[in-house]
Order: sequence, then C-alpha cells, then structure tokens
Amino acid sequence: MPSLASLSLLLLCVWSSVATSWGTRVRYTPDWDSLDSRPLPAWFDEAKFGIFVHWGVFSVPGFGSEWFWWRWKGQHDVACLLFMLKNYPLGFSYPEFAPLFRAEFFDPESWTELFEAAGAKYVVLTTKHHEGFTNWGSPVSWNWNSVDTGPHRDLVGDLGAALRKRNLRYGLYHSLFEWFHPLYLSDKAAGFKTQDFVRSKTLPELYDLVQRYNPDLIWSDGEWEAPDSYWNSTDFLAWLYNHSPVKDKVVVNDRWGAGCACKHGGYYNCEDKFTPGKLPGHKWEKCTSVDTYSWGYRRDMRLSELLDLPTIIRDLVQTVSLGGNYLLNVGPTAEGTIPVVFEERLRGVGAWLRVNGDAIYSSRPWHVQSENSTVPIWYTSRDSLVYAIFFQWPAGNRLELTTPKTSPATNVTMLGSPKLLKWTPLGVTGLSVLLPPPGPPYRTAPPAWTVRLQGVA
Ligand SMILES: *[C@@H]1O[C@H](CO)[C@@H](O)[C@H](O)[C@H]1NC(C)=O
Ligand SMILES: *[C@@H]1O[C@H](CO)[C@@H](O)[C@H](O)[C@H]1NC(C)=O
Ligand SMILES: *[C@@H]1O[C@H](CO)[C@@H](O)[C@H](O)[C@H]1NC(C)=O
Repeated sequence: MPSLASLSLLLLCVWSSVATSWGTRVRYTPDWDSLDSRPLPAWFDEAKFGIFVHWGVFSVPGFGSEWFWWRWKGQHDVACLLFMLKNYPLGFSYPEFAPLFRAEFFDPESWTELFEAAGAKYVVLTTKHHEGFTNWGSPVSWNWNSVDTGPHRDLVGDLGAALRKRNLRYGLYHSLFEWFHPLYLSDKAAGFKTQDFVRSKTLPELYDLVQRYNPDLIWSDGEWEAPDSYWNSTDFLAWLYNHSPVKDKVVVNDRWGAGCACKHGGYYNCEDKFTPGKLPGHKWEKCTSVDTYSWGYRRDMRLSELLDLPTIIRDLVQTVSLGGNYLLNVGPTAEGTIPVVFEERLRGVGAWLRVNGDAIYSSRPWHVQSENSTVPIWYTSRDSLVYAIFFQWPAGNRLELTTPKTSPATNVTMLGSPKLLKWTPLGVTGLSVLLPPPGPPYRTAPPAWTVRLQGVA
C-alpha cells in the first residue's frame, strides 16, 4: 500500500520528467539571437581550470611554433628557410614530417594522471590545427591523418578514453580553416562565395568529431578570414544544441566566423591570452601557454621563455576572480611525451590547488574583484564564504582587507589550516588579520595564500 508520501514523490517524478521533456523541446534556430540565448551548461563555470594540448605534425620540426609550415611556405621566413636548408634534404616538403610523427611513447593514462594531478577539470586537445592533419582517422582527410600515417593511432579517441576513466571533461579543438587546402584556397579566391571546402571538409569533420567522441566542449579556431555564413556555423550549432548526442552538456567558445569573437557563441575567448580589465558580463576563458612563444612543442625553447609557477598561479587567480576559466597549454613532443619542465609546472599548480582549491573550483566572483591594501588582494566567493588571495606576505604578518564588512560573528581562517585567526575591525569596513608567523606550511607552499572569511558582507 503506497503511503501518501511515496505517492506524492511518484507524482513529483512524473511531473519533473514531463517538465524535462518540455525543457528539451526548446529549439534553437540557426541565428545568433537564438543560439546566444542558450544557457551555458553549469559544469564549465564550475571547472575553472583546464589543460590545453597542441599536438600535431608541427611537433616534429618543433621549430619556432606550431605555425612553422605557414612561416616557412606562406611567409618565407628566413629563420625557417635556413632551418630547413641546414637540417633537411633540398626539396623536403612539410608532409614528409608526418611519418616522423610517431608518438611512440604516448601513454594516455600517464598524461591523464598528470592532468588530474594538476587539478585540471577539463582537457582540450587539437584534433586538427591549421595544417589540416587530423589526430583521428578522418575519412575526409585522406593520408593526412594520424591513423593512415605517423602514429598509426587514433590519438583523439585514445586520450578521450583515458580522460573519461578519471572523469575529466574532454574538449576538442578544431581549426575551421587550413592554410594550404586547395579547396579552401579556391573558396577564398572566390571571395568565399563558394563553399566547397566547408561542404567536403570542415562540416563533415565537425559532425564526425561530435558523433564519434561525444565531446564536452568544442574549441573552435581558424575562423577569422571568412564570415560565419561561409562556415555555416549557425546551422552546425543549431544541430549541436538541438539534436546532437551532446546537446545537453556541450560547451563551445566564440570563434565561429570573422567578427564573432567576444560577441557570439558560448563562452568568450576573445583574443588568445586575453584578460579583461574588469568583471565581464559574460562567461569567458583565458587560454595561455607555459611556453610564452609557442603553443606547440618547440625544440628551441629556453627556460627563460617559460611562465614560472608564481606567474601561472597569479594568472589563474586573477582570471577566476574576474569570472574566467583558465586554460593552460602544454605542447607534447612528436614522441608523445610531455616535456618534464611542463610537467613540473602542472604538478606545481596541482599542489597549490590542493591547499587553495576551495577558493577556485565552483567559486563565484565577489562584488569586488581586487583591492590594494597592505598587499594586492584578489577575491572570490562561494555561497556565504569570501576568499581573499594574496601573493606577497604582508609586513609584520598583518593583512589588511579594506572591503569586507565584518560583524562580531565574523571568523577568519587560512586555507590549509583549521585554526581561527585573530582579527580586528579597521573602521566602518575592513579588518586587519593577524596571520600565523611565516613558516611552514604557508611560506613553503607556492607563493599565494588564501584567507577565508565567514560572516562578512
Ligand atoms: C549552409 O547553410 C545553408 C542554409 O541553411 C544551406 O543552404 C547550405 O547548403 C549549407 N552549406 C553547406 C556546405 O552545408
Ligand atoms: C593595484 O595596484 C596595481 C599596481 O600599482 C594596479 O595596477 C591596480 O590597478 C591596482 N588595483 C586596484 C583595484 O586598485
Ligand atoms: C564562523 O562564522 C560563521 C558565521 O558567522 C558561524 O556560523 C560559524 O559557526 C563560525 N565558526 C566558528 C568555528 O566559530
């Protein structure tokens, strides 16, 4: 005999499943007004930190950057010409690098272990960069894909399987254009009035990627030479949001045609490495690279050209404080290894996040983003908690925060320790916190600390 409570529970379930099926009946139309109105799936804002991976045939020459082919053959850059003359036979062509892309040490499990240890919640892999080489067996990239040549392996699929086992979200980077594809060049010569390249290459590959790999995110790029009407981006996105197998969870960025960045799509990247000056009204992501000169692996990189750990953590904190996600790039080698200097940076971020992650994951911007009191402070919040993050230890162990309004019930702790810290009000607003004396564990952690405030406004 069902009780009244279980009956009403049943009714509630029936009602909510009806409501859900009504909900999914929202149909997006292929125009920006409609597509831009789609709410961003919540996981993305909660994730805050992801790893970007640029990997492809460009990892073989590993010279200058992943734009090597373009610099060499498109721009006739002297450094690239000399590099080829000195190191390769005369007449050596870029496609001849592909068989040298072997990925013989590629172990998706150990990459994934590293990304998880870094504290990342999602990973974005280049499935195809502007060179056009696909890291999966694309049926429309004949002989220019990682299954037919080079690694002879489905790199996109193998990494995805490993990430899923550890519950990391999977993002697929995809370049709309290709520098030297003959159909792209002929469409371009026709002022993008023809769409032969889009019909036979771009769109089939985008649909194939979605259906094969069920991505959580599509990181579009290479859009800037042609309008979204050439790429048929709005048709693709309407399908993605209405009918695709990932319609409820998928997140996309803003690079879907010339002029779309920072205006249309899902979250905004705006430009590479873009940071807004103040809190934007739209979800955004900062993508940046440990190697400041390149996204792809380059054999000529030097230590002094890399972001150091304090810089990375400061950048991550400021980005999150301003409502952004932080997507940090590493370039694996053609052999399939992640250079150990990148690994060291990533593990360093993870070590910091293990102590300070409460201030980052699932946090929200506070009503003030930063202030300069005794030392610069960046704020985040979560429910009624406020986090103040700082990168310099204040003189006399006295940290002054001028914005929070305290009450007698306010209490203050530091992440990494449960101990309540002594504090005194500064005036109408603000407080002065007596930090524990310098020494372990706080001063040995990577140089950023978090004070947690409970009961402030
Ligand atoms: C692009 O979309 C238009 C309008 O929906 C359609 O007529 C055209 O066939 C599409 N082009 C391709 C290449 O899919
Ligand atoms: C804090 O100081 C830095 C450096 O002087 C300055 O660039 C920044 O705009 C200041 N921030 C605020 C919130 O006043
Ligand atoms: C800290 O402050 C909050 C809000 O004022 C209060 O609910 C909580 O009990 C306090 N915790 C301790 C350990 O005093």
